[in-house]
Amino acid sequence: MKKSGSARDPLWYKDAVIYEIHVKAFFDANNDGIGDFPGLLQKLDYLEALGVTCLWLLPFFPSPLRDDGYDISDYLSIHPSYGTMEDFKTFLNAAHGRGMQVMVELVVNHTSDQHPWFQAARTAAPGSKERDFYVWSDTDRKYEGARIIFTDTEKSNWTWDPIAKAYYWHRFFSHQPDLNYDNPAVLEEVLKIMRYWLDMGVDGLRLDAIPYLVEREGTNCENLPDTHVVLKNIRAAMDENYEGRMILAEANQWPSDVRPYFGDGDECHLAFHFPLMPRMFMALRLEDRQPIVDIMRHTPEIPENCQWGLFLRNHDELTLEMVNEEERDYMYLAYSSDPRMRINVGIRRRLAPLMENNSRRIELLNSLLLSFPGTPIIYYGDEIGMGDNIHLGDRNGVRTPMQWSGDRNAGFSRAAPEMLYSPVISDPVYGYGAVNVESQDGEASSPLNWMRNMVALRKLFRVFGRGVMEFLDPGNRKILAYLRRGEGETVLCVANLSRFAQPVELNLQAYQGMRPVEMLGYVEFPVIGSQPYSLSLGPYGFFWFELQKAREQIEAQ
Ligand code: GLC
Ligand code: CA
Repeated sequence: MKKSGSARDPLWYKDAVIYEIHVKAFFDANNDGIGDFPGLLQKLDYLEALGVTCLWLLPFFPSPLRDDGYDISDYLSIHPSYGTMEDFKTFLNAAHGRGMQVMVELVVNHTSDQHPWFQAARTAAPGSKERDFYVWSDTDRKYEGARIIFTDTEKSNWTWDPIAKAYYWHRFFSHQPDLNYDNPAVLEEVLKIMRYWLDMGVDGLRLDAIPYLVEREGTNCENLPDTHVVLKNIRAAMDENYEGRMILAEANQWPSDVRPYFGDGDECHLAFHFPLMPRMFMALRLEDRQPIVDIMRHTPEIPENCQWGLFLRNHDELTLEMVNEEERDYMYLAYSSDPRMRINVGIRRRLAPLMENNSRRIELLNSLLLSFPGTPIIYYGDEIGMGDNIHLGDRNGVRTPMQWSGDRNAGFSRAAPEMLYSPVISDPVYGYGAVNVESQDGEASSPLNWMRNMVALRKLFRVFGRGVMEFLDPGNRKILAYLRRGEGETVLCVANLSRFAQPVELNLQAYQGMRPVEMLGYVEFPVIGSQPYSLSLGPYGFFWFELQKAREQIEAQ
């Protein structure tokens, strides 16, 4: 039976606040040490109270788990550790019942080498349809223009398969062979997988690693025209049968290269803004708005029905692929004092430790995340200021169990601690004794309640998800000031990137006679006059003002 999507407004993703979770990390209902769908179901109250509107689930499919589930061996089932298909459907319907949308992963670039397609391909005759599900070669000297992405572990994008007696192509780990989109049967299978999840009522799909779908000699094998043909086909198949669904593109590229992934509004609805993310961290450390203003100026317009996906941290490293060499050196220096904090081309740390646990800095960055043009994405645990564990391998240090309470295993599981899929964070600063949901829940000024407040506030003003952005240009470059306009609302945001108090004078000529009302406390500020508008901000302080018609103005009407 085909179920419809749960959102009423076809543009729902523009107003969404997305929360990124791995089911294994959230809550363990059967006490085997691994989070599961029945556990996630139990925590819907928490998510509803947080105010997030869309749950993005990291891969939960059968997998050898050598890339945390991005190495899929069966696209149409649930990994037994996380529960059954019935458990998933129960969770999905319950989330929908609370007005939350659910987004799952569609990993289209590669499979696990354990997938039956690969097992069949390596024994099938060269040139057969089965063999051609993947990209084979007799030499490892093809497509030499393609860079290596996992620079710490991979030496080549080709690996020799002794069974097939040929090399196969892979942009990521060598156990993740790339699918071959020059074989039309591959796209057919991908569409079947997509329909399977959409039929079930899933609202959104994150398309993983899409710049690399197609390879062509003499190119860098990224963002190629034929890759866009594939994506347009996927979107058309979605539009043909499903209303109110959404595709989010993971394309870690420069803005001008990401722009085509929106097509003419006929490819992806959302795309992550990868270059913006490191520049928010950089602007903060430099105490200078320039990196942010610069990248926004280089961000092209996108079609009406499209939206940027904004994030500070996620399940991967803080990638530094989209900055220049000088900026990269600076970021490494500023944010990874210990070399163990680095992986591939990036920094594997969570938000709170990156901010040295300074709540004002954390709040400032979150205020930008929630007020910049786009849909904000919060990584689980960051709302309570969870830490990371740089002694765990790969990116596992930022994937530790959610910290629910000060009880054994952070209240995540009642299993023996040795059985947990990952140790909990237990250091004195970020450990579950100090940082957990239970203690923050009742404390009015906790990070959790701050986040609940801000999310609720953002949702009251549609302009954040839908309006345009306009930078002001005050002389003091430590101040980032911008207007959000649209939907009959005008919001002025002012942020102090400095660790010291700062004055600023804003040119608000166009808004003369209007009254800024501070949105958190509903505090009326002086009416904007003919002179520059003066404000003082405390260290890392920020203001959100709604510009309202002043009383005098209303009476004169
Ligand atoms: C995406 C995922 C990352 C994964 C990679 C390869 O970039 O975000 O976690 O390792 O794809 O599948
Ligand atoms: Ca479990």
